[in-house]
Amino acid sequence: MKGLQEALLGWYRENPRLLPWRGEKDPYRILVAEVLLQQTRTAQAIPYYHRFLARFPSLKALREAPLEEVLKAWQGAGYYRRALHLHRLAQEVEALPQGYAELLGLPGLGPYTAAAVASLAFGERVAAVDGNVRRVLSRLLAWENPSPQRLWRLAQDLMPPGEAPGEWNQALMDLGATVCLPRRPLCSRCPVAAFCQGRADPGRYPGARKRKVREEALAALVLWGREGVYLEKLEGRFAGLYGVPLMPPEDLPARARAFGVEPRFAGEVRHALTHRRLRVEVHVAPWEGAACRREQLVDPGEKPLPKLMEKVLRQAQAFLAHEGILPLPHAKAHRIKPFQPD
Ligand code: ADE
Repeated sequence: MKGLQEALLGWYRENPRLLPWRGEKDPYRILVAEVLLQQTRTAQAIPYYHRFLARFPSLKALREAPLEEVLKAWQGAGYYRRALHLHRLAQEVEALPQGYAELLGLPGLGPYTAAAVASLAFGERVAAVDGNVRRVLSRLLAWENPSPQRLWRLAQDLMPPGEAPGEWNQALMDLGATVCLPRRPLCSRCPVAAFCQGRADPGRYPGARKRKVREEALAALVLWGREGVYLEKLEGRFAGLYGVPLMPPEDLPARARAFGVEPRFAGEVRHALTHRRLRVEVHVAPWEGAACRREQLVDPGEKPLPKLMEKVLRQAQAFLAHEGILPLPHAKAHRIKPFQPD
């Protein structure tokens, strides 16, 4: 075990990835990085990390900011519920507690994130097992389908005594991210290949996790006018954000009637959420009739929108441009990019 520990730590110290949170000791900044990294790839997360911390440099700054501003700063990183949780956490605690047990259960902090913050910021000896670490450990032990508890116990047992636990956890993560890759692991470059029981057939470990992903069909109604697009506050999974009306396709005719419009079909967008694959029909209609109140038309550049809504608006815009109809008024000035065929 000592050989493995020394080999991995030696490798990590000689091949550090230059990530902006490396060497960081401020627990809040570490928390922001780890929350971003829950569902965003490292390279993608870096600009959001800088942007978010420039706007909200401390837990206090985050606490005092309106939720809408926080969601806006998160926009584009996706999985915005993470930002909602960070904001809620800032209301709940004055400062981040210094132990794994106290961190666990704060809004947005599951075992992985609590362990990452506790080990990186406070030096607590607690293993942080993310997807990368799961893969590395499963291969090391040739485990096809280990339970989270079994993996966590192994990770805990492997942690070297006396060494900085944060360093050890990140060494495992980095090995998974750069060497022990999901598809074509670079075993010839692996510092712990000599200890690896799964090396002969790394693709077997760990077996695929069964995830239930359901398809869901929806319809989006884009009502556009000179002043902007009709946006409403969304409910349910997108609560707190804005978007065009979104509904089961069978409800579209009644909603359209209520608005007094006859929408046209403008194509489809697809969007993957954690447990759902959405297929969204986009319908568009000009909306300038008697039912249209100006204040209901909003410039989408000013409101936090989920990624799905950006796709919907882009699709609507592409359709209108294709038809030679005036592009959506906000399109040039704001973040909605021109249509680019895949
Ligand atoms: N993935 C999640 N957190 C990480 C960290 N601190 N270092 C490297 N990869 C990570």
